[in-house]
Amino acid sequence: MSEDAATTPQEALEKAVADSRRVSTTGDIEVATYLEIAQGERVRGGHPYQDTTEPETVIIMDFGSQYSHLIARRVREANVFCEIVPHSAKGAVLENKNVVGIILSGGPNSVYEDDAPLTPGWVFDAGVPILGICYGMQALAHQLGGTVTAGLQQEYGYAVIHRNDQTTDLFEGLDEASPVWMSHGDRIETLPPGFKSLAYSENSPVAAIGNDEGVFGIQFHPEVAHTPQGAMLLSNFVHKICGAAGDWTPGHFVTEAIERIKQQVGDGKVICALSGGVDSAVAAVLLHRAIGDNLTCIFVNNGLLRREEAERVQSVFSRTLGLKLRYIDATERFLSALAGVTDPEEKRKIIGREFIGVFEEEADELGEIDFLAQGTLYPDVIESTSSETKAAHVIKSHHNVGGLPDHMNLKLVEPLRYLFKDEVRLAGAELGISPEVLNRQPFPGPGLAIRVIGDITFEKLETLRGADWIVMDEIKNDGLYEQLWQSFAVLTDTRTVGVMGDRRTYSYVVAIRAVTSEDAMTADWAKLPYDTLDRISNRIVNEVAEVNRVVLDITSKPPGTIEWE
Ligand code: XMP
Repeated sequence: MSEDAATTPQEALEKAVADSRRVSTTGDIEVATYLEIAQGERVRGGHPYQDTTEPETVIIMDFGSQYSHLIARRVREANVFCEIVPHSAKGAVLENKNVVGIILSGGPNSVYEDDAPLTPGWVFDAGVPILGICYGMQALAHQLGGTVTAGLQQEYGYAVIHRNDQTTDLFEGLDEASPVWMSHGDRIETLPPGFKSLAYSENSPVAAIGNDEGVFGIQFHPEVAHTPQGAMLLSNFVHKICGAAGDWTPGHFVTEAIERIKQQVGDGKVICALSGGVDSAVAAVLLHRAIGDNLTCIFVNNGLLRREEAERVQSVFSRTLGLKLRYIDATERFLSALAGVTDPEEKRKIIGREFIGVFEEEADELGEIDFLAQGTLYPDVIESTSSETKAAHVIKSHHNVGGLPDHMNLKLVEPLRYLFKDEVRLAGAELGISPEVLNRQPFPGPGLAIRVIGDITFEKLETLRGADWIVMDEIKNDGLYEQLWQSFAVLTDTRTVGVMGDRRTYSYVVAIRAVTSEDAMTADWAKLPYDTLDRISNRIVNEVAEVNRVVLDITSKPPGTIEWE
């Protein structure tokens, strides 16, 4: 413990309060006040804003960690709903929610830096258990009267923690010596009053802390796969410490989402652009369940789709799922706008612009529309909130449906706003959408336009469709489709000499691109079996006119990107 053996806990508390008053204030509340509040009773689920009709929710406060979304994943895997909020969030985030606990993420700062983000007062005031992870723990310790200093050396990578408290629920079921993943430079020098050290590692004398009121901190990262028992620890926190029942599932989400849509939309009219992909499909089916034929789906064939794709989308959504679907064949419009264009970004801009044009015309014909539905997912929401503070370099300006002009005056309805991709799939399965749609590999908005290198013609698109069909067919036949993030063909603008039936050929090179990935931010080239590659190559040169050579792209991302353009 930090305090001198001769001091009583009360004296130590008073001293810490006095010290911290001298040391700093955080802008909205004095450090001393945090301490007083943190010493107060932590009522499980006792917040005045609490709305028990809402799902039990854990708030994850993001201090700029790379891993906040992983914390969210682990909490949801423990069947507790959660939301990530930036550290600048105000206490209003608690309103109309049933918040049962708050987790403070790691982050790149040191608490003693001038502009280091600190825990806002409302977190301490919320009356629910708190768990600080890495920087989150240091912020807690600093704000509650402990001291944090630069460690003698950075601790990065594997470590083993040893418990020195056998009673805390947080560690229930964990091994006595548990491997964890650390990534920090600073460490806790003295504990805040009222806290005990719960565990240590070789380089972190204080690897976990806690007080009797349900405030905990851990130096390591329980959310990453390298901490094998980390998921158990987070599950202990949300269930045993916060008292969450753990009854949240993506299935549960379906019922709630339908209710929410009904409340938001009422008798309003909604349009939704279907892309054929999972997200827009699940969003559309949810909306259809909620508001029936007040939803109109629009599917634009831009002429850049794969073989039989337009037919497939119509058959699945209109015939099987019973959605009101307007199918627009705008092939001519898109291809003439793209004629002669070779620059990838220019292609994307044109496709985005034409899409908006088609969409506006259709909406005009439909008459009064109130809402635009979008299949925005939680990672996009997190990304756009954090990108306000990050100067991200634009590698490719991804065109996604929905960048509609303001004058259309549509309100947004985003039923998947709080879901991760695999949760969307689970919700889709619950809604009866077929695995074929749910497990479809991602397909970019600009479609084959960014897979025909250089200028685009109808003939080149047909050549690519032929090659792409064969790649897909063989990959599926060999049972590889669902193991790959994406697999497709690219039509290069290079022609090479070949020989077929004693005749010279001078035709295009097709590249095969297949990658594995978790989230498309990074990707590995897939080590496809030689037999599969052999069949793909043979079939393409034999079955697709205008192609006489097949190459394999063996570049990972980074430094490559998944698409060639
Ligand atoms: P890159 O090529 O950037 O692709 O590694 C990452 C993921 O995004 C998809 N992609 C796009 N999706 N509009 C989209 O909707 C685009 O302009 C676009 N460009 C790439 C790509 O297929 C991969 O899944």
